[in-house]
Amino acid sequence: MKDIFSIMHDRRSIRKFTDKEVTKEVLEQILTAGFRAPFAAQLCSIVYTSDKEKMKMLKGIGIYPTTQVLMIFFVDYDRMEKIIRARGYENIFDDGMSLWLGIQDATLVIENVILSAEALGLGSVLLGVIPQRADVVSEVFNVPQRVFPVVGLCLGYPDPSVETDTRPRYPLRYSAFEDEYKALDETAIKECMKSMDEGYITQGYYIKNKAKIPLPDGKDDDVDYDKYSWSEHISRKHLRERWGDDTLINVIRRHGFKIE
Ligand SMILES: Cc1cc2nc3c(=O)[nH]c(=O)nc-3n(C[C@H](O)[C@H](O)[C@H](O)COP(=O)(O)O)c2cc1C
Repeated sequence: MKDIFSIMHDRRSIRKFTDKEVTKEVLEQILTAGFRAPFAAQLCSIVYTSDKEKMKMLKGIGIYPTTQVLMIFFVDYDRMEKIIRARGYENIFDDGMSLWLGIQDATLVIENVILSAEALGLGSVLLGVIPQRADVVSEVFNVPQRVFPVVGLCLGYPDPSVETDTRPRYPLRYSAFEDEYKALDETAIKECMKSMDEGYITQGYYIKNKAKIPLPDGKDDDVDYDKYSWSEHISRKHLRERWGDDTLINVIRRHGFKIE
């Protein structure tokens, strides 16, 4: 088995999987390792499925067709409140903080799951639009109020016919600051953009995947694929107000959290 640093450095998102089954034993090993993560209040629950019909019902979530197992990570306040009530108390804690603690707990479980899956030869990719689609997620998986999805994960054995590169990152000096936060000046921002953009262009990522996001309102697009890279792509993701028909805060409220 690879050591933990090789696993972390070699990991890359996998979007095409073989049809090799992910066995119950493998899943149990991954999930058990997942929940060994540190926790604030054990506020994370996972629903997982290999049922392709259920995956099909989750429209608009971007599940990759060859996914063997779909996992959804939730902030689970239903279980927490049952425990509080079992102690004879009533929860009056700020729901904003409750959600935040739950997201902290879930995030740590997620990374443990991803890395332990890698250690067993599996690959994965996260699905970030899940919270915006909480209504359909709740319907398909029978999820009660006060249990809210954080992110999804497609899991399986990587298809060896698809070459995938490790993606670039900002230079470490612009992400990790010793002793005090350093606001980035224009030069630093340019360096951040350069490291990401040159990396993605060298790998031909956007041209290979034809992944350009169109400009809003049918505006003329004069950024060709030889210049279209990560900073352009991520900026274009921010040119719309939201992903779904409703704001995320409204979706969260619909699922029983009292957020002002
Ligand atoms: C919270 C989160 C949500 C993501 N959502 C998606 C998604 O919906 N679809 C997708 O293809 N990749 C998604 N990704 C994967 C990122 O695109 C990927 O991690 C990033 O480009 C870096 O590439 P790497 O994972 O190969 O290092 C998501 C990643 C994170 C952390």
